[in-house]
Amino acid sequence: MQEQRDPVPEQRESTPGEEERASTTAESDPFLAGLPKCELHLHIEGTLEPGLKLALAARNGMVLPYADEAAVRAAYAFDSLPSFLVQYYEGMSVLRTEQDFYDLAAAYAARAHAQNVRYAEIFFDPQAHTARGVAFDTVVRGLTRALDDARRATGFRGHLILCFLRDFQAEFAMATLVQALPYKDWILGVGLDSDEKGNPPLKFAQVFARARAEGFRLTMHCDIDQENTTEHIRQALDVIGVDRIDHGTNAVEDPELVEKLLDRGIGLTTCPISNGVVTEGMKAAEIKQLLDLGVKVTVNSDDPAYFDGYVTENLAALRDALSLTDAELVRLERNAVEISWAPPAVKDALLAELDAYGA
Ligand code: ADE
Ligand code: ZN
Repeated sequence: MQEQRDPVPEQRESTPGEEERASTTAESDPFLAGLPKCELHLHIEGTLEPGLKLALAARNGMVLPYADEAAVRAAYAFDSLPSFLVQYYEGMSVLRTEQDFYDLAAAYAARAHAQNVRYAEIFFDPQAHTARGVAFDTVVRGLTRALDDARRATGFRGHLILCFLRDFQAEFAMATLVQALPYKDWILGVGLDSDEKGNPPLKFAQVFARARAEGFRLTMHCDIDQENTTEHIRQALDVIGVDRIDHGTNAVEDPELVEKLLDRGIGLTTCPISNGVVTEGMKAAEIKQLLDLGVKVTVNSDDPAYFDGYVTENLAALRDALSLTDAELVRLERNAVEISWAPPAVKDALLAELDAYGA
């Protein structure tokens, strides 16, 4: 039997960070719209928009307690990582068949293409599905088929990163890794997400060592302002030996960690709008500090259907908060391409395009 998640801690009373949400000009900004983009921190289950959620529920004969899309959205109430995760896991229960996973990834690929995202490395959470009886093959086959079709139709390239859920036991993660081995060609790397409290990187040291030995690239979430956050970043760097870190913005508090990121060329996948919802503010100043120190910081959307912003909106929010120049926006995208796990030819072509665009 699989482990049950810990009970969810009480929610905070206020919604810190809301006041820092910049009003964005994403849609009307031609420079941002045309900027070629690379997204590295995107949970495919977090792209499940209310309309698709209702449609999949109906197709699967499920009755949800919402009359329409507005009612689904109105029910979203989160102001912390744990309170967000409750609604995130509940929402994905409508995903049951291979076609459901196909439709989810196809919808994201269409949106990404519309925002000029050229390349994306996309997290998926197989344990959140296998734990409720959906086969691993159903999940990975539906997602992969949609990404392949999107690539043929529009040129958008999307690749999968398998995330282990850190609030389940390490044994379940190891079993999931073994389940993934026959699908190696469809999965670029592995990551770690879900509730970080009490679930440090060390808990998964053996799983990540095996994943590395099997040829997967490694990343993991070090979410914002977590308990022991800088120690978790240190473990990710020194014990796990990650290739990059998701969020990881608290590294700015420790010069030794910044030095390690710089020495090893390890990048951070930051998510400004999501930061503003689940923590106290977008962490714009910290992101800028890291960028100015030369750390390969990138801007991403995390769970855009829940946090109300895809990658263009995240770039716009950060740009508006920091008065970023066009050159700095190009630099953020260059960073993303550089720290991506794309083949050299794909990276070179995207970097050349960004150079031309910046000029
Ligand atoms: N699962 C989906 N989004 C997440 C996030 N931002 N942090 C941790 N786990 C997640
Ligand atoms: Zn995330």
